[in-house]
Amino acid sequence: MSAAEPVLAVRGLDVAFRVGRGARARTVRAVTGADLDLHAGRLTALVGESGCGKSVLTEALTGLLPGTASVRGRAVLSTPDGPLELLGAPEAALRDRVRGRLLGLVPQSAATHLTPTRTVGAQLRETLARLGTPTPAAELLERVALPRHVLGSYPHELSGGQAQRAGLASALAGDPPVLLADEPTAGLDRPLVEHVTGLLAGLAAEGRAVLLITHDLRAARDVADDVAVMYASRLVESGPADGVFTDPWHPYTTGLLGALPDAGFTPVPGHPPELSALPEGCAFAPRCPARDDCSGDPAPVRHGDRTVSCHRPVGRAS
Ligand SMILES: Nc1ncnc2c1ncn2[C@@H]1O[C@H](COP(=O)(O)OP(=O)(O)O)[C@@H](O)[C@H]1O
Ligand SMILES: [Mg+2]
Repeated sequence: MSAAEPVLAVRGLDVAFRVGRGARARTVRAVTGADLDLHAGRLTALVGESGCGKSVLTEALTGLLPGTASVRGRAVLSTPDGPLELLGAPEAALRDRVRGRLLGLVPQSAATHLTPTRTVGAQLRETLARLGTPTPAAELLERVALPRHVLGSYPHELSGGQAQRAGLASALAGDPPVLLADEPTAGLDRPLVEHVTGLLAGLAAEGRAVLLITHDLRAARDVADDVAVMYASRLVESGPADGVFTDPWHPYTTGLLGALPDAGFTPVPGHPPELSALPEGCAFAPRCPARDDCSGDPAPVRHGDRTVSCHRPVGRAS
């Protein structure tokens, strides 16, 4: 990652949910000890299979978790008025100062966040008015390469790709310096994936810090400056994309890259564990080719601008 101060610095983020009652009560550890830096002018891809905690991580940062979540750690956003701790900030501060203004969120399944009975234009204009932004709604559409007539469309009249871009337009209404996009390319075909990721890369190139959450490694490899790999609630590897994608250090990252078309479509065998029943020690061990007796939680080890949490790292870290 670049040497400059991060715009958003997450340290030791833990999120747990208590679910079920009585004898069936259990704890879901959705995020464990996450450290993540987002930098202005850089696109960070957060990758990993479904159910690893990626969405919960963004929801923790934007204060959108339900009351059943317990959150620990720090997430400091640098703002024109100085550093702002996001975790535990009062809801009124998050609503009035943070969401949409300092942190833009494109939620997972953005289309479902549009009100079905109102036109895209009415919803964008309302968001702009709430944020006090003088930008015309048509200009927002132009930024995401949607034609002007979409202003008069109802959400059900949009294609999947148009709906995702409408969600992105809404997140850009307050011109936030940090943008969190949760699976903005899910369900899109390849040309549209490239279109949306290209838009996000352009927003980063203009100076924003962009987090692209995706399980589409190919999309991540195409546009990311930095990568963070999440597995079973932990960030197991992170660093600049050119390093992580060419010389992965965590066997899980190697496995994800092996599932790419140019690497022979070989998926990682098995499935991620249930986060309410994490195995002892390394959670990846049951799927790891090393099949070593890796006891104890692997602590993150930092080498230069890269971090890996593994007892038996591979590549040049081995
Ligand atoms: N509100 C909630 N209550 C209980 N468990 C939750 C809640 N939200 C998410 N989870 C659990 O947290 C885990 C991580 O979910 P999520 O962040 O959505 O994964 P990802 O985005 O990586 O697919 C899942 O096991 C999910 O069931
Ligand atoms: Mg998700």
